[in-house]
Amino acid sequence: MKALEGRQISFSYAGGKTLFSQVNVHVKNGECVILRGPSGSGKTTLCNILAGIIPRSISGELRGDVLLFGENLRTLSLATVVQKVGILFQNPDSQLFFPTVEDEIAFGPENLCLSREEIGLRIEQALDTVQMGSYRLMETETLSHGQKQRIALAAVLALQPQILILDEAFSQLDTGSTHLVKGIIRQQKELGHAIFMVENSEEHLHLVDRVYELQDGQTREVVL
Ligand SMILES: Nc1ncnc2c1ncn2[C@@H]1O[C@H](COP(=O)(O)OP(=O)(O)O)[C@@H](O)[C@H]1O
Ligand SMILES: [Mg+2]
Repeated sequence: MKALEGRQISFSYAGGKTLFSQVNVHVKNGECVILRGPSGSGKTTLCNILAGIIPRSISGELRGDVLLFGENLRTLSLATVVQKVGILFQNPDSQLFFPTVEDEIAFGPENLCLSREEIGLRIEQALDTVQMGSYRLMETETLSHGQKQRIALAAVLALQPQILILDEAFSQLDTGSTHLVKGIIRQQKELGHAIFMVENSEEHLHLVDRVYELQDGQTREVVL
């Protein structure tokens, strides 16, 4: 089943040129799909469209449809969308808002009005997954870039989404964190979850089922 699909997507930022027109991409359950392309080609923009951030929080002229498990994203509530699709940005500083690690990870589950007990459990599990269990009460600001990225990922995982979008998540990670994130991707695939990631390096291709290339406003699938 297609977990996430962008169908005939065309987009331009307000007053800007058309970034892409009639682009089609999808990722199935248990698949890891890569999107690559030159800097400025619109990879991050496409991620934000697939996650529903565009047009909800960033505006522009969007045409086409995003389908989450066959349902049009426009018809779904924000709470539904964030439980189905999690997005990790390239820079964790644009994703982390709270003074402590615990508050950061609790925010999503709290907004879903889960029980105290369930929220506690989700924080614990998410921190274990990113191997930062002992950092729960730390101030986020004191962490390294790689550790912040792990916390941002934990905050995404705490919502238990079946689709993960990773926008150049590896770009500034040290070897240890890279290894960890790869392991998490493998785990997510085994759970039948879908991963859509922007990644230009060839290094992670063994994790990947299909590759899309975005260039001059069009995507094409590359044969591996
Ligand atoms: N919020 C925004 N408003 C206007 N233009 C933007 C915005 N974000 C990105 N852009 C422009 O859109 C183009 C594509 O950007 P982006 O999606 O970040 O590309 P990539 O991730 O492939 O490097 C760039 O020319 C960028 O300057
Ligand atoms: Mg980008």
